[in-house]
Amino acid sequence: MSDKKIIAVVGATGAQGGGLVRAILNDANSGFVARALTRKVDSDKAKELAKLGAEVVAADLDDVESLKRAFAGAYGAFLLTNFWEHFSAEKELAQAKNMAQAAKQANLQHVIWSTLEDTRKWIPLSDNRMPTLKGKYKVEHFDAKGEADQLFRDAGVPTTFLLTSFYWENLIYFGAGPKKGPDGKLALTYPMGDKKLPGIAVDDIGKSALAIFKKGREYIGKTLGIAGEHLTGAQMAAALSKALGQEVRYNDVSPDEYRKFGFPGAEDMGNMFQFKRDFEEVFCGARNLAVARALNPSMQNFEKWLASNKSRIPLT
Ligand SMILES: NC(=O)c1ccc[n+]([C@@H]2O[C@H](COP(=O)([O-])OP(=O)(O)OC[C@H]3O[C@@H](n4cnc5c(N)ncnc54)[C@H](OP(=O)(O)O)[C@@H]3O)[C@@H](O)[C@H]2O)c1
Repeated sequence: MSDKKIIAVVGATGAQGGGLVRAILNDANSGFVARALTRKVDSDKAKELAKLGAEVVAADLDDVESLKRAFAGAYGAFLLTNFWEHFSAEKELAQAKNMAQAAKQANLQHVIWSTLEDTRKWIPLSDNRMPTLKGKYKVEHFDAKGEADQLFRDAGVPTTFLLTSFYWENLIYFGAGPKKGPDGKLALTYPMGDKKLPGIAVDDIGKSALAIFKKGREYIGKTLGIAGEHLTGAQMAAALSKALGQEVRYNDVSPDEYRKFGFPGAEDMGNMFQFKRDFEEVFCGARNLAVARALNPSMQNFEKWLASNKSRIPLT
């Protein structure tokens, strides 16, 4: 039997977890093997992971017993929730609670919780700079993740709190790429003013997570932020112009305008960008580039990411 340690990966069929599974599979000497958790063991993505060599196991974050079974015998776990599937912070909190409970019961030695800031620590609900959402949140998809940190501490789970960054893949899949204006010219529209947005190639989240597991106990109980580069909208537009060989302008809008764009989650995203803009020092400061690169020396910057992904960015 292999003496390698099992890492149970939530979100293995998705962006962050998929990156970690691939990182483990690509590193024969890591000392770890990947157990991919999914609700749909028969999906194409799950089958693909099995083919690559991952153990695929059924689990649902809404079902704590399924998580206990899926964590049994594992050394560690990479954990996340997917806000964008249901748009519910309450659900994220309930799922995080299930994961913390199951992780404790399975006596996991190291959990990485993919988290984000609870922005209410900096902008209390009474602060009218941005609207309060659903009576309880400022940046709903951040706040519940940050609030859930305490659930892992309360359960006594040895946890690393991993603060992730804006995926550059959002330019491909999330409608956050350059769009053609009425003048036919491409523009990148974010309400960031002249402030910097920490970004990352999503695969580098998985690679960083593997590096954290490899460090043993060093990051347990700690919060660690990762990013590949901190760039202003104008700098991102300049890098896009260079990579695409056509001009991309940065179109600065106010957070209020952005919140009114009307797509699902626009208010939440508008508040998110405003938080990153108004608390640039806090937000970038929590994602030290040198620390992240020391952990994962192959961490891509935006230019490098663009070199391999520019043709995937829809330009409509
Ligand atoms: N986009 C960004 O820039 C960004 C940046 C930082 C953080 N985030 C956060 O990242 C999270 C999403 O992560 P992602 O982008 O890696 O996800 P993704 O690519 O959209 O995939 C979602 C994954 O979550 C799994 N999942 C969802 N609900 C589940 C459940 N009830 N039980 C078991 N597995 C479940 C899915 O597995 P199956 O479908 O196979 O079961 C799938 O693997 C969001 O909460 C978002 O706020 C996003």
